[in-house]
Amino acid sequence: MEPRAIIDLRNVSRVYRMGLVEVHALRGINMQISPGERVAIMGPSGSGKTTCLNIIGALDRPTSGQVIIDGTDITQMSEKELTRIRRDKLSFIFQFFNLIPVLTAFENVELPLLIAGVDEEKRRDEVERLLQLVGLEERATHRPDELSGGEQQRVAIARALAKPPGSASSTIILADEPTGDLDTVTGEEVMEVLLRSAKKEESTLVVVTHDPDVGAKLDRVLSMRDGLVTNGSRGN
Ligand SMILES: Nc1ncnc2c1ncn2[C@@H]1O[C@H](COP(=O)(O)OP(=O)(O)OP(=O)(O)O)[C@@H](O)[C@H]1O
Ligand SMILES: [Mg+2]
Repeated sequence: MEPRAIIDLRNVSRVYRMGLVEVHALRGINMQISPGERVAIMGPSGSGKTTCLNIIGALDRPTSGQVIIDGTDITQMSEKELTRIRRDKLSFIFQFFNLIPVLTAFENVELPLLIAGVDEEKRRDEVERLLQLVGLEERATHRPDELSGGEQQRVAIARALAKPPGSASSTIILADEPTGDLDTVTGEEVMEVLLRSAKKEESTLVVVTHDPDVGAKLDRVLSMRDGLVTNGSRGN
């Protein structure tokens, strides 16, 4: 039996209203992603990739259709409930690292665990494990401005993987062009770390990328065009 989809979009539309003009950013898309699957979203600029990711991540709501995350329909949830879903299940990695500048690498990774009320010893073990996973145990006490771009993004990956122990299900990591602000070689290294870490942690990964080589390394590439998913071919 196919495992239940952890991400399930049903006929999702998103219309942006700009005065009298309507932009149909998503035109009724269906998307089912299995737990632990690693998927790339590719497509031209303006095709709706970021809009789609923001809706999966409960940062935006669809104009119509249903969003079901890990079996729960979140479409009509209150802001308070959505905040809890984001905290427990969803992580974002953005193009510009979004680390907190006054905190060290260690503290940036620790923050989601602190917010979730994990006790100090468990936090320390988990942060050390995650920094090691992304190869940054030597940089734990550096602040973001004391790290290279690639290192900053690896901290962001470690932070994205930090979820309270015993969370009901594996994390969903949503990454919107996570290497877009890095040079080619550094970008490739960071992408390697992201793919390897997501696999090791059995996280579900949805990554927006323009790089076909990245797409080729994932389980599946979803192609978007004009607000629609035009294929869902399974890769290797
Ligand atoms: N807040 C907004 N208000 C109005 N229109 C928007 C808004 N955000 C996006 N759009 C429009 O919706 C469409 C889809 O935008 P989206 O950002 O999802 O594209 P994208 O595929 O992520 O593109 P890119 O590759 O350039 O990041 C575009 O036509 C865009 O102009
Ligand atoms: Mg985008």
